Amino acid sequence: MSAKTPEATRDLVARVFDEDAGKIQGRAYTDPDIYALELETIFKRCWLFLAHETQIPGPGDFLSTYMGEDPVVVVRQKDGEVKAFLNQCRHRGMRLCRSDMGSKARNFTCVYHGWVYGLGGELVGVPLEEQAYGKVDKAEWGARPVPRIVRYKGLIFGNWDADAPDFLEYLGDAAFYLDVLLDRSAAGTQAIGGIHKWVIPCNWKFAAEQFASDMYHAPVAHLSVSMSVKPVVEEEQVDFGHEGRQFRSDRGHGTGFFVGAGRRQLLGSFVGPEVARYMSEEGKEQAVERLGFVRGEYMHAQHMTVFPNFSFLPTANTVRVWHPKGPNEIEVWAWTLVEADASDEVKEAYRVGGLRSFSAAGIFEQEDGENWVEIQRVLKGSSAQDTWFHIGMGQGRARTDDPQFPGTVGWVYSEEAARGFYAHWQKLLTHPTDPVIPQNEGTCTGETCHAAE
Ligand code: FES
Ligand SMILES: [Fe+2]
Repeated sequence: MSAKTPEATRDLVARVFDEDAGKIQGRAYTDPDIYALELETIFKRCWLFLAHETQIPGPGDFLSTYMGEDPVVVVRQKDGEVKAFLNQCRHRGMRLCRSDMGSKARNFTCVYHGWVYGLGGELVGVPLEEQAYGKVDKAEWGARPVPRIVRYKGLIFGNWDADAPDFLEYLGDAAFYLDVLLDRSAAGTQAIGGIHKWVIPCNWKFAAEQFASDMYHAPVAHLSVSMSVKPVVEEEQVDFGHEGRQFRSDRGHGTGFFVGAGRRQLLGSFVGPEVARYMSEEGKEQAVERLGFVRGEYMHAQHMTVFPNFSFLPTANTVRVWHPKGPNEIEVWAWTLVEADASDEVKEAYRVGGLRSFSAAGIFEQEDGENWVEIQRVLKGSSAQDTWFHIGMGQGRARTDDPQFPGTVGWVYSEEAARGFYAHWQKLLTHPTDPVIPQNEGTCTGETCHAAE
């Protein structure tokens, strides 16, 4: 139940995050009106991850997912294109498709009264149309289409805003860092195994922010992982060192990573020995050839968020969406991605390693989730919601002239990307009619990014 006017909610948003002072208030993560405004002004205007191409390879293959809290169906068309539409029947509003995913569908029939929709969501059949209605204007009563769809290196994104900026503009310099996951092989990537889905009672921003920014937690929160794998992982493989960077985007995206030659397989050691071997041998060679030394080998243990809620971790090759389910809950959907031309053994090692490390039962995942859950529990208290949290790490230390990394870049242990995430969040919520991305900045064309190497 909404209690505040939109103006009052925007005023609250303007007050709960103070970038200059390096502080954010607990209420940012609990207020139901802020959450409603997020659905309206962020999840209806930003590019949202929908699916991987290989999950819907053939005509009629489909996947049900969410854009914010709106259910959508993503469908491969007969001509190979991808369309998506609101998963809502236009008769009485029933969920049109009730399957998580499927293949070779010819149409979608509503289970309530039987209206039939084509693969693009167009209304094609109405039971007893002539007797009951005379005529239904089918062109008007199709499922609501997602007006913008983009396919980027195997990933499919959608946007409710017909006037949204092009996806590469939306990414800006973040494309350089996103390609570390997507562009290691000429064969591209492939989604393997099923989609892991689980619920975490926490605000979506904790997860998105951590993947954008928080490398600082790793040596502490994941200490028990390090200790538990010591019998099978060599001592020096547990030490990631403290050399690394963090990238802040002016579009809300962010990434953090360690750097060091010959160390990319370190996190791979936690995922499994076959994964570590692949990373230091054939997987590395082709990546260095395509992406260069910096992105092919030097960066390691990276994690990243593409604003607002798509995150990934290249070495474990886990890709996920933090679906918001109210201010106090998310549903995590996680996939494992592999280079499409990796051997079957390597793919299987990634799949099993993903289960072990980053999944509902993964050892890293448990430690991350435990922190988010406890923060949210504490925030049930009124005083806790009024409390300010420190988000000032690395304030004023970032640079824009790093010879190896494009954009605004700070030390690996920083909250520069977190501040960028919240600054963008605040801007979108408080200026809902302004352009989603800055208008005075250049656009990454790929070449400017790659020239950094
Ligand atoms: S609600 Fe779908 S056919 Fe009636
Ligand atoms: Fe973590």
